[in-house]
Amino acid sequence: MSGSGKLRPLATDWGRLVLQKARISELKDHLDGEVTLQGWVRHHRKSGKIQFIVLRDGSGFCQCVLVKSEVDEQIWERARQLTTESSLRLIGTVQQNPRNQNYELLVKDLEIVHISEAFPITPKEHGIEFLMDRRHLWFRSKRQWAILRIRHTLVKAIRDFFDERGFTLIDSPILTPTAAEGTSTLFGVDYFDEQAYLSQSGQLYLEPAVAAFGKVYCFGPTFRAEKSKTRRHLTEFWMVEPEIAFAHLEDVMQLGESFLKHLVQRVLENNQFELKELERDTTKLEAALQPFVRMTYNEAVEKLKKLGSDIQWGEDFGGDDETMLTNEFDQPIIVHRFPKEFKAFYMEPDPEDDRLVLGMDILAPEGYGEVVGGGERASSIDFLNEQIAKHELDPEPYQWYLDVRRYGSFPHSGFGLGLERAVAWICKLPHVRETIPYPRMLYRLKP
Ligand code: 4AD
Repeated sequence: MSGSGKLRPLATDWGRLVLQKARISELKDHLDGEVTLQGWVRHHRKSGKIQFIVLRDGSGFCQCVLVKSEVDEQIWERARQLTTESSLRLIGTVQQNPRNQNYELLVKDLEIVHISEAFPITPKEHGIEFLMDRRHLWFRSKRQWAILRIRHTLVKAIRDFFDERGFTLIDSPILTPTAAEGTSTLFGVDYFDEQAYLSQSGQLYLEPAVAAFGKVYCFGPTFRAEKSKTRRHLTEFWMVEPEIAFAHLEDVMQLGESFLKHLVQRVLENNQFELKELERDTTKLEAALQPFVRMTYNEAVEKLKKLGSDIQWGEDFGGDDETMLTNEFDQPIIVHRFPKEFKAFYMEPDPEDDRLVLGMDILAPEGYGEVVGGGERASSIDFLNEQIAKHELDPEPYQWYLDVRRYGSFPHSGFGLGLERAVAWICKLPHVRETIPYPRMLYRLKP
């Protein structure tokens, strides 16, 4: 407690107020009633006769009004000391502002918990590095708060989607002995006398589990030593990965489409306030509830060439290609059947064209690009052995994974959604660094 914030005896017995404490998000249930709010000062505006404190308590923002003629002199003076981000408790009557319909607090009593030092983040423009160095403070701001609340909605919506459809959660390990998605993006870790890596994907662990549970998913942090400094890449991100036994490419394309629609729908239902704060055009999100566009890789390359890209058949899409393609449609695009050269070793070959594999990506509209990657897994052990050799992977650490193809092999398919890319698209953010509480990127390991 700072000196000025010392608790003082008051008419109100604060210790006995536990039951009346309310959160800002609940104020509508207390209209005309008396409540206690606890939180931090977002803004403080004072004149000779009236003080306005915009309070935030984590659940929302509320204007609290002190009228000099209606409060004790001591309370009026105490409020005048408040600085931005000071913590406090307030008692007052809940009223609705006739102009904007917002719920406000007509303050009767106020207790300072702590007077904040000068808060480093002010309404003036700050550079991104300044803000990122203060990420632990930056997410108190309204916009960052809104983004992380939407992220929270998405996490719950993700779990609900799979839980309600009979999937079993299988937590995959973070320390792994093998590469799942190519050796160029592995983070190495000394694991006693062995070499270990941070997991690039839980998929290799889900494939054996799907033979035990039929439908499984994992959802957790994933690591890629991405040297790319783009608006789409983090080195640590969260990925949800469903995997289904006896499912083919078509099944996971359909699942991916209903999954993304479910996520958008949930945010539209739960986060209108946050979307408004982000000035998100929600008609663009509503458009994503319409049937998705589908095209093969071959068709996508043709389309891109017409749009002016210099992509050649056999090359993966660059970020610019994805932006160009997704700007053409209001709905997400499912691109399927890719050249095997740039896809992972485990993909099932296309029976109709041996140059291709049965992979699919879902690209988010408005220039966002790939949010989902997945497809059908190869079920032949001979083919996989060839692939492991072709990708110059050591076959020994993959033997346990190949057991799925030794003991009752079966067709199966799945995909991975990168949570941060989904948040970036749904909130329409310029960069994934704002989508995760503590981003990890090529040049950022702090705070
Ligand atoms: O396409 P990816 O690499 O697919 C896999 O990892 C599969 N094993 C998933 C599966 O089939 N079970 O990655 C899947 C998604 C991408 O579409 C993207 O949304 C996200 O993970 N992602 C990243 N997000 C942020 N930063 C990065 N560096 C990312 N790399 C992939």
